[in-house]
Amino acid sequence: MQHISFSFSFIILVLTISHQTASSVLINPTSPSDIINQTCKKCADKSSVFSYSFCSASLKAVPVSRAITNLQGLALVAMELAIENATSTISAIKQLLGNETPAPFDPLSSRCLEDCLELYSDGVETLVGAMVAFLGERYDTARVWLSAVMDAAETCEEGFKEMGREAVNPLETENYRLFQLCDIALCIGHLLTSHEGL
Ligand SMILES: *[C@@H]1O[C@H](CO)[C@@H](O)[C@H](O)[C@H]1NC(C)=O
Ligand SMILES: *[C@@H]1O[C@H](CO)[C@@H](O)[C@H](O)[C@H]1NC(C)=O
Repeated sequence: MQHISFSFSFIILVLTISHQTASSVLINPTSPSDIINQTCKKCADKSSVFSYSFCSASLKAVPVSRAITNLQGLALVAMELAIENATSTISAIKQLLGNETPAPFDPLSSRCLEDCLELYSDGVETLVGAMVAFLGERYDTARVWLSAVMDAAETCEEGFKEMGREAVNPLETENYRLFQLCDIALCIGHLLTSHEGL
């Protein structure tokens, strides 16, 4: 929890500093909830897999979002949420694989979980890189990395299907969340590079 609030304070700080540069692309918002609504709507209109309700619920649940008045800031919130989620998923997988005897999963399912553990661990590092790229306004780079993390979430999901272990996939919600959170930042990266704004 402490880590979360620290990160969000960091984001605010960064936003204050980067506000000048990010304000070139924009938006005539009257309130932060307008920006969230408009951004989520624009992204949902562009993509059939993008969930408007997930987007707006996720962003509105974060207190710091209320202070955010630019697209870059919303993307940073989404990436921060993705990192927090992926980190807690890593702990959850370790716990699932962990010390219970007999092993709580059959060997094939355990292998799926081990693959996902690796995908998520790499994913967190990639997300940190994507955040740094975003802060440096290297949106194309950020988008490549975000896509890679979305692929990782899909690969984890498909692993269970391919091994016929769909029924015991304990990571379905986590995969969906990671995918959707990255998709928010990916879409915003696109809006910023295409200079469409809102
Ligand atoms: C944003 O959308 C929600 C429903 O999704 C609505 O209740 C709210 O009034 C909207 N806010 C603005 C500022 O348009
Ligand atoms: C995961 O993301 C959701 C947004 O969909 C957020 O509400 C939740 O707090 C996050 N969980 C963690 C552990 O960060």
